[in-house]
Amino acid sequence: MPPADLRLSDYRPTDLSHAKTLPSRWYLDAAILPVERERIFWRTWQWLGQAASLTAPGDYLAHDVQGEKIVAVRGGDSELRAFFNVCKHRAGPVAVGCGNAQTLRCPYHGWTYDLDGALRRAREFEGVEDWQASSVRLDPVSAATWGPLALVNLDATAPSFDVVLGEIGAEVAGAGFPVEEMVHVERREYEVRCNWKVYVDNYLEGYHIPVAHPALYKAIDYDVYRVETRRFHSRQHAPFRGNEQALYYWVFPNLMLNLYPDNLQTNVIQPIDQERTLTIFDWFALPDLSAERRRGVDEAVEFSEQIQREDIRVCEWVQERLGSRAYDTGRLSVKRENGVHHFHLLMHEFLTGDPWA
Ligand code: FES
Ligand SMILES: [Fe+2]
Repeated sequence: MPPADLRLSDYRPTDLSHAKTLPSRWYLDAAILPVERERIFWRTWQWLGQAASLTAPGDYLAHDVQGEKIVAVRGGDSELRAFFNVCKHRAGPVAVGCGNAQTLRCPYHGWTYDLDGALRRAREFEGVEDWQASSVRLDPVSAATWGPLALVNLDATAPSFDVVLGEIGAEVAGAGFPVEEMVHVERREYEVRCNWKVYVDNYLEGYHIPVAHPALYKAIDYDVYRVETRRFHSRQHAPFRGNEQALYYWVFPNLMLNLYPDNLQTNVIQPIDQERTLTIFDWFALPDLSAERRRGVDEAVEFSEQIQREDIRVCEWVQERLGSRAYDTGRLSVKRENGVHHFHLLMHEFLTGDPWA
């Protein structure tokens, strides 16, 4: 259970017209992040890396999910699996970085594991009692790919990534966006001096666009901008004036998917500590884009850079003030901040209960 002094009951879930924002201490207290890791980041689907690193049998990719060390592996049977990257001997790693191998071999004392996680060989271990090599396995983790992304979920009771995506799968397929064919073209990382939830709150509303993003405001049709909330994700309807079709999603808790006919931008929002956040922006595009379309993607990267600078500024302003004795909670625009409210309800739901049950 979360420590009692977090007072999770300070947030009362209610309908949007009566709702308050999350209590400011949820954005400030160092005790909240370990609880969020336990109840949210280690229970939901988390970005691990690129699916392109995991295509051939033997491909492996080791990465960190909020402090837990994880490795994903494409087996000899072409199945994608993932494990805690923790050797059962004395907790060495079974893989470092990424590459291709026929076994996972711990670089400490050399125990080797098959790509399905079973221990194959432990050197010089004869005579050890109450221990059988054949019953030693790496602890499994759920793994999935979606388009160019590889994801894992540390909670064996969690639904599949497709279930969490819900309507997104059919909408992307219906739009005909070929996400499976897209390849990585660009990455930008930004460290933001705010709690990760300040950044997500900001992403989930268009209310600030006319004031904080003058250039974006000119480019979109603000009057028809709206957020549609679903069970574990929300969709933003944000049409660019006279422009092509696009789909914008946020998937609880920290993944954003921005889809266009020939490219995809993903944002992954990772807490570093309770007041610092790493935002990772990746762009993927069809490999055979014309020079003109490729220039269009480059322009989108630069436009996003400008918007991100403006968002970082407002998020840092907010973080500097959330601790003020003059503030605890605020109210939400019914017309424009329903996406923020939906996020807060999910936060409360995951922190206080078991939404997968
Ligand atoms: S810790 Fe892995 S072989 Fe010893
Ligand atoms: Fe913004």
